[in-house]
Amino acid sequence: MNFNLSEEQLMIQQAARDFAQNELLPGVIERDRDQKFPQEQVRKMAELGFLGMMVDPKYGGAGLDAISYVVAMEEIAKVDASAAVIMSVNNSLVCAGLEKYASEDQKMKYLAPLASGEVIGAFALSEPEAGSDATSQKTTAEDKGDYYLLNGTKNWITNGGTAQYYIVIAQTNPEKRHHGINAFIVEKGWDGFQVGPKEDKLGIRGSDTHSLLFTDVKVPKENRIGEDGFGFKFAMNVLNGGRIGIASQALGIAEGAYQLALKYAQERKSFGTEIINHQAVAFKLADMATEIAAARMLVWKAAAEKDEGRDISESGAMAKLYASKVAMDTTVEAVQIHGGYGYVKEYHVERMMRDAKITQIYEGTSEIQKIVISRAIQKK
Ligand code: CAA
Ligand code: FAD
Repeated sequence: MNFNLSEEQLMIQQAARDFAQNELLPGVIERDRDQKFPQEQVRKMAELGFLGMMVDPKYGGAGLDAISYVVAMEEIAKVDASAAVIMSVNNSLVCAGLEKYASEDQKMKYLAPLASGEVIGAFALSEPEAGSDATSQKTTAEDKGDYYLLNGTKNWITNGGTAQYYIVIAQTNPEKRHHGINAFIVEKGWDGFQVGPKEDKLGIRGSDTHSLLFTDVKVPKENRIGEDGFGFKFAMNVLNGGRIGIASQALGIAEGAYQLALKYAQERKSFGTEIINHQAVAFKLADMATEIAAARMLVWKAAAEKDEGRDISESGAMAKLYASKVAMDTTVEAVQIHGGYGYVKEYHVERMMRDAKITQIYEGTSEIQKIVISRAIQKK
C-alpha cells in the first residue's frame, strides 16, 4: 500500500493549487455575494484540462486517472466550492457518463467539446417530486418512431443556465417502472426547451442552479444513450462515480476552512497568548486534522478503486457520506475559532460553512448514501 502521489499527480495538485490561489481566490467573496458564475475562470480551467480530466485524449480530454481528479478537485474546492461543483458535474457526471455509455457518434459530437471545455454540460435527474426517490420520474419521453417527445420539469440543475448540452432522464414506459426510463442528450435552444430562473441559494452561489422546462421537445432517437430502458441504470452508475467528485469537493472545503482556522489560531491572541495555546481551541484543530485525514483516505480509496475498474457504489457513497459530514463539522468549528470575525464575509469561513451544507444534500443526501451503503454491505 502506497499513500504517496506520483510525480504526475503532484504536478497536477500544484497546478490546481496555483490556479486556485491566482485565479479563484481573487473575487471569490464578490462572486458569492453577487451569485456570479465564474465564466472567465471556467474558461481557464478548460485550458488547463480540468473540465475533462479523466476523458481519453482522443475525445479532447486530459486522459488522467481518478486520483489526479480528486486531488485537483480538493485544491479547487479549498478556495472556491462553486467552481468545484461546476468542474465536478462536467467531469464526473456528464463526461464520464458519455465516455462510458454513449455511441461513437455521440462521443464525437458531444463528448469532445465537453471534455475540452469548449462548452459545459449538465445532468438532469431531479424533479420537483422526484429527488431522493429518483425512480418516480414524472418527465416523459414518448416514443414517436424516429424521435421522442419530451415533456416535464427538472429541478435544481447545476450548470442549468450556462450548459450547452444536457443529459436528461425521462420516463418512456411507466408500466415498466425504472426499466422504462431513458437518458437523452438534449441541446440548449431546441424548440420547447426553456431554462427557468436562477435559484437564490444559501451556498455555492457562484454556481448556477436552474429548473429546466420541456414542452413537446423533439429529441432525435440517435440522442438516446444506450439501449431502450437503460436510463435509470445509467443514472445510478454515473452517480456512483460522481459521488467521488462531491466527496473531494467536501474534503477541499474542510481542508480550506481548517487551514484558515489553524493560521488564525496561531495569530489571534487572548488572555496574553495565541488562542491555539488554549487547549479547547487546539483540540478542535486536532479533531479537524484527524477527521480530514480520515476523509482523504476514504476519497483516495474510492478513486483508487475507480482507477482499478472496480464497483465503487459502496466506497464512493462512504467517501461522500463521511467527507460531507467532516466539511460541515469543520466549517462550523472554523467559524467558532474565528469568533466574531468568523461571522463576517471577509474571513471566508462563513462562506465555507454555507457551501459545506450542500455536500450533504446533492448527488444523494446523506440518508440516501446510508441506503446505498447498507444495501451494499448486505450483498456481501
Ligand atoms: N448503482 C447501480 N445500480 C443501482 C444503484 C447503484 N448505486 N442503486 C440502485 N441501482 C439499481 C438497482 O440495481 C435496480 O436495478 P434492477 O431492478 O435492474 O436491479 C434499480 O437501480 C432500482 O433500485 P432500487 O430498487 O434499489 O430503487 P430504490 O427506489 O429503492 O432506491 C436509490 C434507489 C438508490 C435511492 C436511488 O433512487 C438514488 O440513488 N436516489 C438519489 C438520487 C440522487 O443521487 N440524485 C442526484 C441527482 S444529480 C445531482 O445532485 C448533481 C449535483 O447536485 C451536482
Ligand atoms: P427529498 O428527496 O424530498 O428529501 C427530503 C428529506 O427526506 C432529505 O433529508 C432526505 O434525505 C430524506 N429522505 C427522503 N427519502 C428518504 C428515505 N427513503 N430514507 C431516509 N430519508 C429520506 N439534481 C440533479 O439531477 N442535477 C443537478 O445538477 C443537481 N444539482 C443540485 C444543486 C443544488 C444546489 C441543489 C440544492 C440540488 C441539486 N440537485 C441536482 C438535486 C439534488 O440531487 C436533490 O435535491 C437531492 O437528491 C434530494 O432530493 P430532494 O431535494 O427532492 O429531497
